[in-house]
Amino acid sequence: MTDIDILVRENIKALSPYSCARDEFSGSEGTFLDANESPFGSLNRYPDPYQRKLKEKISAIKGMPPGSIFLGNGSDEIIDLCFRIFCKPGTDSALIFPPTYGMYEVAAEINDVKLVRVPLTEDFQIDTKEALKALNDRSIKLVIICSPNNPTGNAMKASDIELIVKSFRGIVLIDEAYSDFSVHKSFKGLTAACGNLIVMQTFSKAMGMAAARIGMAFMNPQLLTYFNKVKPPYNISTINQRAALNCLSRCELVRKRISIILKERERLARALEKIAVIEKVYPSDANFLLVRTADADRIYSELQKMNIIVRNRNKIIRGCIRITVGTRKENNILLKALRNISL
Ligand SMILES: Cc1ncc(COP(=O)(O)O)c(C=O)c1O
Repeated sequence: MTDIDILVRENIKALSPYSCARDEFSGSEGTFLDANESPFGSLNRYPDPYQRKLKEKISAIKGMPPGSIFLGNGSDEIIDLCFRIFCKPGTDSALIFPPTYGMYEVAAEINDVKLVRVPLTEDFQIDTKEALKALNDRSIKLVIICSPNNPTGNAMKASDIELIVKSFRGIVLIDEAYSDFSVHKSFKGLTAACGNLIVMQTFSKAMGMAAARIGMAFMNPQLLTYFNKVKPPYNISTINQRAALNCLSRCELVRKRISIILKERERLARALEKIAVIEKVYPSDANFLLVRTADADRIYSELQKMNIIVRNRNKIIRGCIRITVGTRKENNILLKALRNISL
């Protein structure tokens, strides 16, 4: 048994996965009478369970071998799979750094995995001293780092992430959903050398494909075999695989849109700073801005009355709302509305 196998739950190691008809034959030509599909129609065949064409294209763009790429039905499926593969319900724990993305809590609860929480410092960085102390707890099997972090918007210090990856024997999942908006380097290149590291990205943000529900995870190929074992066989539909391939053939357009969003992020930040009800605009490495306001609940409901929907984060970070960077027109609608709010 290798170091990687040790990280996996016993029942998952012992699992005989569902063998689907398309596991046995991957060619596209043939007389297919194996999967009880209809012989009629244009979407009559089950999708490629391993999304080979899409992974080849992602591989060329991301510079990662196809065998190190796993695709999930959104990153949310990958988060859930991490709990299911590495954390034994009712026994194991996972470590998170709040305030952070809410699905980590939900996935932990669904899987009956206890969460250990090490709050971020005042400037929203990892408290490494506390984190290393917490990691002495042997029940922790999974650490999730969100960078750039939702809802604070900032990237974690690379040296702090490296320290955790190197000091922890269990799985470290880095959620880089917003990395395309950040100048900080992705950690995906480190997955070849660090067998316990999984780096997750998504088609939902910079690629503009949230409706297609495709999350990517880069990891050691040996670790990946367990994800293939546990996932539902046809977790990415043919329609969504095609949509993602189509998106990847328009990389120039995606880059152009990212650059527009980044310019708008700066313009929006500078304009928000001048508005009376806004007390602070936090720096952002993502496509949203966290702002501290004089009264988040009031501002949130005033905006809602004007059909402008932002994310009220008051319960998580006092006084704060999270604003997604929209088009210039949308941002102007928001700015005008905020200027008209008096508390
Ligand atoms: C940090 C983070 N990770 C993951 C996701 C979800 O990504 P997906 O749409 O790929 O499930 C989000 C969505 O808001 C997010 O903020």
